[in-house]
Amino acid sequence: MKHPPRIRVIGSVNLDIVARVHTLPSPGETVSGGVLAHYPGGKGANQALAARKLGAEVAMFGCVGNDSAAGQALSLLKANHVDLTGVTILDGVATGVALIVVDAAGENQIVVTPGANASVSPSTLADLSGDYDATLCQLELPVETISYLADTVTGLFCINLAPAKPMPQDVLNRADILVVNETEAAFYGDQLNGLKALIIHTLGADGAIAFQNGKEIARSASPGVVPVDTTGAGDTFVGAFIVAFLSEGSVANALAYGCAAGAAATLKAGAQTSMPSRDEVEALLGLTA
Ligand code: RIB
Repeated sequence: MKHPPRIRVIGSVNLDIVARVHTLPSPGETVSGGVLAHYPGGKGANQALAARKLGAEVAMFGCVGNDSAAGQALSLLKANHVDLTGVTILDGVATGVALIVVDAAGENQIVVTPGANASVSPSTLADLSGDYDATLCQLELPVETISYLADTVTGLFCINLAPAKPMPQDVLNRADILVVNETEAAFYGDQLNGLKALIIHTLGADGAIAFQNGKEIARSASPGVVPVDTTGAGDTFVGAFIVAFLSEGSVANALAYGCAAGAAATLKAGAQTSMPSRDEVEALLGLTA
């Protein structure tokens, strides 16, 4: 591909409200002593920024509320020149918010209040006729909207099945690339069998495996790092994998690139604030076992 990959991301935009504590609370437990921070987030926006920072031209489609959280949530996409003309501002609903707790080992718990993301629909989506090399979505939008996209969008259609929720088989049949983590792979189980899609299983610190027609075709380890905050690492993997796959066409190289980018994203706090540059990914690529 001679031009930078052109990627359309249709997905969620959130403001992440993050408390950093020593230990994640158990049900019914109160944990104090945390430090609070606000970061731009949302799986859609995170994947859009990851792809943009790694060289793609990216257009974001979604919804935010007419509130101050929207400005914060979109700030890094704007600063990095993601095309935001497809983001609709809605009166009467709040921008999506994620309440996140991160522990000393960088692990997290996340609760999302979808707000305006729940209003992403055929009527609130801008014109989808543009010329893109790939369309990427996740599952923080209504299922009906994902079905509409599967029926409507032409060209390479990629879905990160996160967070897992029941999905019509037609949608999975339409996808060209599906990305799942271990929890999501277990959730969909047999629904992932017999699909035409390239299926990527991410394994966190253990890397990622690509399957086509039920057979493993490539795998990559992840560089060994000491994580500060794993929030958004999976989103960074997805954005990086798609950019590398569109640029080079090699699944094996794209897996390694995605794993290096995902590892790099764990080295700083926050989802979008931790997304690596190309140089940072390349520095870690050399360390992949
Ligand atoms: O994948 C991480 C993201 O999940 C966070 O940024 C949060 O907003 C939730 O959508």
